Amino acid sequence: MGSGNGSNFEVLVHTLRPYGVLFSGMFCDRPGARIIERARRVGVPVVQPSLEAAGSRRKLNDAVEIFLSQTFDLLVLAGYMRILPPRIVIPYAGRVVNLHPSFLPAFPGINVIQKAYDAGVSETGVTVHLVDEGVDTGPILAQIRVPMFPGESVEQLEERIHLVEHQLYPWVILHLLASRLVSSPASSA
Ligand code: GAR
Repeated sequence: MGSGNGSNFEVLVHTLRPYGVLFSGMFCDRPGARIIERARRVGVPVVQPSLEAAGSRRKLNDAVEIFLSQTFDLLVLAGYMRILPPRIVIPYAGRVVNLHPSFLPAFPGINVIQKAYDAGVSETGVTVHLVDEGVDTGPILAQIRVPMFPGESVEQLEERIHLVEHQLYPWVILHLLASRLVSSPASSA
C-alpha cells in the first residue's frame, strides 16, 4: 500500500521477484500518485479508491478490507500516509510491515525527514517495524542510523535516506517471508 512516489514499492518488486515473491496487488488512496504508474509498469494490479470517491474514511477503510480479502502473507506499507484503524490492524497483527524514515522512537508521524533536519540532530535513520494500533509504535524489526552531514540540504539528506531504505526494506521483507516459510507446518512436515 502506498500514497506517493512509490520508489520503495518499485525496488521491492524488482529485488524480490527473482526470489519468487508474488505481488498480488497495490492499493493506493491518492489519485495520480506516481506509485500507480509504477505498479502498472511492473504489472502489479492496482486498486485505487480515493477518499473523495469513497465518501468517508470509514468507507475508504471498507475498500482496504476488501483489498485484504485476497490471500496474502504480508501487507507491506511503502509510503502509505493514512493510519490503519484497529479493525484492520488487529486481525492482521504480525503481518503488516511499515517503513519509516527516522530512527524510531525518534520522530514518529509525518514529514519527519524535514523535522529531523530542522531539529539539527546529529543523526537520523530508517526503521522497519510491524504495525500496531499506535502511530509508528509497533515492534521494530530493523533499523539503520543515517548521519547528518554539515552543510547538507534537506533534499540531499532525503536522497540518502531513500538509498538506505531501498537497501534495507527488501532485505527485511525477504527475511520475514523466509522465516515464515521455514516455520510453517507445511514445510516442516
Ligand atoms: C519513504 O521515505 C517512507 O519511509 C515514508 O514515505 C516515503 C515513501 O517514499 N513513509 C512514511 O513516512 C510513513 N510514515 P516512496 O513513495 O518513494 O517509496
